[in-house]
Amino acid sequence: MNNIKIALTKGRLEKGAVEIFEAIGIDCSQLKNKGRKLIFHEDTRNLDFFLAKASDVVTYVEHGVADIGVVGKDTLMESGGNYYEMVDLNIGKCKFIVASKPETDIYGGYANKKIATKYPRVAREFFAKKGIEVEIIKIEGSVELAPILGLSDAIVDIMETGTTLKENGLVVLEDVCDISARMIVNVASLKMKREEIQKFIEDVRGYVGK
Ligand code: PRP
Repeated sequence: MNNIKIALTKGRLEKGAVEIFEAIGIDCSQLKNKGRKLIFHEDTRNLDFFLAKASDVVTYVEHGVADIGVVGKDTLMESGGNYYEMVDLNIGKCKFIVASKPETDIYGGYANKKIATKYPRVAREFFAKKGIEVEIIKIEGSVELAPILGLSDAIVDIMETGTTLKENGLVVLEDVCDISARMIVNVASLKMKREEIQKFIEDVRGYVGK
């Protein structure tokens, strides 16, 4: 049985991914008690797991270092790239939104609006589709600060529970799209390890129902 290497996004998606893996008979005891360790081997199905930052999961899969990746659609939309998107895992559900202070009229006035975001590509494409030119300001985190401090007119960001917006006095001005975690597969791996990867994907699909 060919070994399969799986890159998992660290953090919010871990719990849901582990639940899926356990449901299809994978021993996740090491993953669940991992401490600061980043790489694990699983014997029953001959799998190697490693934990990486979301955008790096895509890089590892594109380069074939990982055969399979578990990563949010938000990251996939922002990074593009060459891989097969095989399964919607139905976990890590949230959405891309445009948000700002309640009084903000994002489409009013003549000056180009400033949009702060961790997702410049997603934000640019969203407004470009509407034929609206905006100035994108790339931010690395705590994006909600930008309109409050006057760096931008609005933000494009992900919202899960809505708590961060609410606690900072911001509101959703517009929905962009829904997001959830996806299973992606390296293009060459699907040929070289077809049997193992297809079996794995089928098991996952069987559990998540897609
Ligand atoms: C994300 C996102 C929002 C928050 C939304 O940030 O950028 O700030 O979560 O979640 P909520 O709707 O449940 O409040 P993250 O926690 O990843 O941290 P970051 O801002 O440092 O990137």
